[in-house]
Amino acid sequence: MTATTAIGIDIGGTGIKGAVVDLSTGALLSERVKLPTPKGGRPQDIVETTRTLLDTVSKDVGELPVGVCFPAVVKNGHTMSAANVSSKWIGLAAEALFEKALNLPIHFVNDADAAGYAESQFGAARGVAGVVLLTTLGTGIGSALLNDGVLVPNTELGHLEIDGQDYETRAAYSAKEREDLSWEKWATRLQKYYSTLERLFSPDLFIVGGGVSKHHENFLPLLNLRTRIIPAVHRNNAGILGAAALAARFPG
Ligand code: BGC
Repeated sequence: MTATTAIGIDIGGTGIKGAVVDLSTGALLSERVKLPTPKGGRPQDIVETTRTLLDTVSKDVGELPVGVCFPAVVKNGHTMSAANVSSKWIGLAAEALFEKALNLPIHFVNDADAAGYAESQFGAARGVAGVVLLTTLGTGIGSALLNDGVLVPNTELGHLEIDGQDYETRAAYSAKEREDLSWEKWATRLQKYYSTLERLFSPDLFIVGGGVSKHHENFLPLLNLRTRIIPAVHRNNAGILGAAALAARFPG
């Protein structure tokens, strides 16, 4: 039987967040605990912080399925890229490393894929037929491609090369902050990005996640696309929800 409660942990460049999730509704059943990501983002340090976080989150609930999401390509439990994290993650058997340190089976997944899965189960992509493309606008750009609710993992469309540039360096929310871009200037870059995605994938729906999507009214109306584009429902908790739901679906 699939578990109805699980723990999701979302590892990011600045923070590691976790909570207990009710998988029938997508609601958090515990406080969301957040610890700063150790400087340098090295695997051993992140594993240690994750262990501390899991001890706190699981204190009152005992053993539950645990899912962990991370900003890298994840293939057969191995992290295969490192765009905004330490290069020590490339080629690492991350799932096995966490399982050993936490002493339990875990499910390890890309952070944007976790967010996309969360939206398909509990959010804006729920019950949506056809091709849905979720992008998270944060330090980088994450992507999750769903077709009739089925996830195609590791699409990494934040690194799409446009005008000879890895486009997350131009259009991620971090670029807006770093270059102090107005919403209008940033939207010009987003326009280029989403029209390229539209041309390549002809999606039925775009969903925009990441913390900045709570300010969607400042930039989504500035975009001129054939495809409907809407904010994610879960934003900052999407990684936690998706990692938890995938852990319950694919128990270790
Ligand atoms: C990484 C992706 C990740 C995204 C969002 C990108 O730089 O390559 O794996 O999903 O950032 O964190």
